[in-house]
Amino acid sequence: MSEGAKKKRLYLKTYGCQMNVYDSERMVDLMAPHGFVLSEAPDNSELIILNTCHIREKAAEKVYSDLGRLVPLKRKALSEGKNLKIVVAGCVAQAEGEEIIKRQPAVDIVVGPQTYHKLPELLFNNMKSSRSVVATEFPTESKFDDLLIDKINDNPTSFVSVQEGCDKFCSFCVVPYTRGAEYSRPAQDIIKEIDVLVSKGAKEICLLGQNVNAYHGLMGKKAWSLSRLIKEIAEIENLKRIRYTTSHPADMTQDLVDAHGQIEQLMPYLHLPIQSGDDFILKAMNRNYKVEDYISIINRLRSVRPDIALSSDFIVGFPGESEQAFKNTLNLIEEVGFSQSYSFKYSRRPGTPASIMQGQIEEKLKLERLLVLQEVLNSQQLIFNKSFVNTKMKILLERKGRKDNQLVGRTPYMQATHIENKTSNIGEIVEVKIDEATKNSLKGNFTNSRIETHN
Ligand code: SAH
Ligand code: SF4
Ligand code: F3S
Repeated sequence: MSEGAKKKRLYLKTYGCQMNVYDSERMVDLMAPHGFVLSEAPDNSELIILNTCHIREKAAEKVYSDLGRLVPLKRKALSEGKNLKIVVAGCVAQAEGEEIIKRQPAVDIVVGPQTYHKLPELLFNNMKSSRSVVATEFPTESKFDDLLIDKINDNPTSFVSVQEGCDKFCSFCVVPYTRGAEYSRPAQDIIKEIDVLVSKGAKEICLLGQNVNAYHGLMGKKAWSLSRLIKEIAEIENLKRIRYTTSHPADMTQDLVDAHGQIEQLMPYLHLPIQSGDDFILKAMNRNYKVEDYISIINRLRSVRPDIALSSDFIVGFPGESEQAFKNTLNLIEEVGFSQSYSFKYSRRPGTPASIMQGQIEEKLKLERLLVLQEVLNSQQLIFNKSFVNTKMKILLERKGRKDNQLVGRTPYMQATHIENKTSNIGEIVEVKIDEATKNSLKGNFTNSRIETHN
């Protein structure tokens, strides 16, 4: 864009998982050279992108209600002789394609998660012809090839996508259909991206993938495992913290377990979704492990890293879930003890095997079970957080808080921590004495007095 040319406003809303957050940042990077700057609100924008999620029915339906609210904006823009293009990107785009335009003709472009690197081209074609376009093929070239490395941010903590897609086909899940087959980025490209991030000030990197521990990217002619990749990244000077998410229990190999005891920068927190604590349900879910396998992983992790904090995803009300099966999940939660968790009512997704299984469970019972489960998880989370009151913890300061003079950071165990502070130390790792704990966060102050040190 030429110097002084008018900036165009881009409004982008992200739904769903971290993968979508990462993709959204890349879309902003892609549009920036064409004069688009991110705006906080949709009003007066020239481009609106909804980066959507298809995982549960509610998430997908939300997109249509949001689109409905954008129609008057588009009408207003047209009546003023301005251009407003509406793009639906992400997993709803991939799953529903053409349907989206049929249901909401105000949409100009539908672009899947593997094709968004073509967005500038699609947009300019659409401007010329005004014909709506659907781009949901799985192209042979990788979207990562178009990654704009010089656009990389300077946040203290950053996600780096290392793996995408899924070949696991859990019977409830749309991801293998929306994101396609498993693909690992070459190790060299990942290391290069992290090098740039660290040179711009990143202290923490979270390696991202739908099935991150299935990583098998190439380094030269050899395939590297996730633990091998982590070992290499741990050599990068000034990188203090390494995390990875989301892992599948079936890919939790011993070398990766061992890495938690060997690599100091690898943080003592792991999100390892089990989904259910009942073997019959796990089999129906096509999860490829039993409850005892999960427990064995946890025991091995705790033997190499006793303080590791664990989190999980749970689905309640999967077809055929008996009262006993549900109780088995509660028992598993009691046995493991989670520092935080995500839990959902089973949502019937069109085209997935579970959606046509016998024994679908009524909404009322799903909700009852969800509330019982969340009560147990919430109390575990509160007990975990409270156990740190009056201890000292190392906090990576990530951003300013909502209140004046407040900074927000994270502990090694992923707890959000609020700190009163007059000078900005964003990007620093500081020692903080924890004074208060709630279910969702900790509160503390910088201190020099020695109490008990956690990481
Ligand atoms: N790849 C990750 C999770 C991806 S989806 C894994 O295998 O664990 C994130 C979470 O959404 C899942 O862990 C699951 O708990 C939940 N989820 C996926 N499909 C769902 C459905 N149909 N209904 C309810 N929850 C679902
Ligand atoms: Fe979905 Fe299962 Fe793949 Fe996770 S592992 S993305 S839940 S199919
Ligand atoms: Fe949703 Fe797609 Fe992520 S369905 S959870 S945005 S991979």
